[in-house]
Amino acid sequence: MSKFIINGGNPIHGEIDVQGAKNAVLPILAATILADGESVIHNCPKLRDVDKTDLVLEELGCTVRREGGTVYINPNGLCGCRICEELMRQMRSSIIFLGAIVSRCGEAVVSMPGGCPIGLRPIDLHLKALRELGVEISEKHGYIHCTSNGIRGANIHLDFPSVGATENIMLAAVISDGVTTVSNAAREPEIVDLQNFLNSMGAEIAGAGGNIIRIKGVDKLHGSEYAIMPDRIVAATYLAAAAITGGEILLNKAEPRDMGAILQVLREMGPDVKIGGDKIYLKSKGLLRSVHTVRTMPYPGFPTDIQSPFMALASLARGTSVFVENIFENRFQHVDELVRMGADIKVEGRSAVVRGVEGLQGANVVSRELRGGAALVVAALAAEGQTVISGIEYIDRGYENIENYLGSCGADIKRA
Ligand code: EPZ
Repeated sequence: MSKFIINGGNPIHGEIDVQGAKNAVLPILAATILADGESVIHNCPKLRDVDKTDLVLEELGCTVRREGGTVYINPNGLCGCRICEELMRQMRSSIIFLGAIVSRCGEAVVSMPGGCPIGLRPIDLHLKALRELGVEISEKHGYIHCTSNGIRGANIHLDFPSVGATENIMLAAVISDGVTTVSNAAREPEIVDLQNFLNSMGAEIAGAGGNIIRIKGVDKLHGSEYAIMPDRIVAATYLAAAAITGGEILLNKAEPRDMGAILQVLREMGPDVKIGGDKIYLKSKGLLRSVHTVRTMPYPGFPTDIQSPFMALASLARGTSVFVENIFENRFQHVDELVRMGADIKVEGRSAVVRGVEGLQGANVVSRELRGGAALVVAALAAEGQTVISGIEYIDRGYENIENYLGSCGADIKRA
């Protein structure tokens, strides 16, 4: 298994073009099967999760071709409606295909996605919403079997603003009879990107980004050409890398408007952060200050996906910071590894109390999930001595060539 070998202490200095957003491209790739022709997706990041999604598309009978950052998907050969257990277990977020497959094929059979390191990841809200759209669903032998004689519009209220459930509803209802409204919808920017892509295919959706989305069903969708939005979580991770190493960084191709809560916490911790157009500039200004309390919340609150990299940052801040993880039940696995590097962190239920220390020491640490792994990279960049991070296949799920981007800004990081 490959590892990252990082010798800490080099300040990050340089520029990075932010990659396309993993959590936007996955539902948009699922949406391409609804078209009656080829779609062209630009700014598609090179990630393990995107590779897995390409495999799902091919398993369904689509042709997928990648040229650099552009992917061409032609669904005309679509002949399947099943996603096998192996693929579902490798990437549980393939559940996002459910609504699109049952809409396109009238049937969908997927293996239960199961949980992942950060939590049980139930899909009850997805299934409840699909049933309200007229989909018959049976769950047996570890498989979910959906059938539909045509999706009919419905007024759906989500008990929790679930990102995936909101996206599955949009993908199921976009081609349908009638109007579907989703109240208490997730408001993440990736939902807006999905709406914009679907509308570019001929859909009639409005309201994404707010908590009520209105989907006027249409008869068909055509292929479209679209560029994926910037990845706000990857952008925030690189800002944390510059802040923790006392450096400075200019991010290009970013979207600062999606990052209000993130930039507010960063400024509270001391760095000078300037934004303009698609750029974000951060310059460290000496010692980091602790942040009183960071609560992860649905958008526009502080994103759960950046909790762990910012906890690494706070571990070297002067004072005590408290992180409250309200979204996933098991998203503190990076704590033990940060403590192994000398951090002073105590977990009490959903809260982690981080007391700033003078310095971190390099150590052998294990990445157990995507964003926890990113936190270990951030910590290792500032640690004294060498850190060896194993389990980096998790990091590759969401960060494109992270060692090249950070290495181009002065970090001493190698993939072994
Ligand atoms: C998406 O996951 C993202 N993944 C996650 O990013 C992100 O952390 C999460 O949204 C929250 O922003 C993708 O977009 C591929 P949810 P998703 O449904 O859709 C509960 C990363 O690191 N829930 O909004 O699974 C659930 O248990 C990943 O890039 C139900 O109870 O998130 C959780 O507590 C990690 N029943 C909460 O809602 C359901 O049917 C948020 O889940 C669905 C969700």
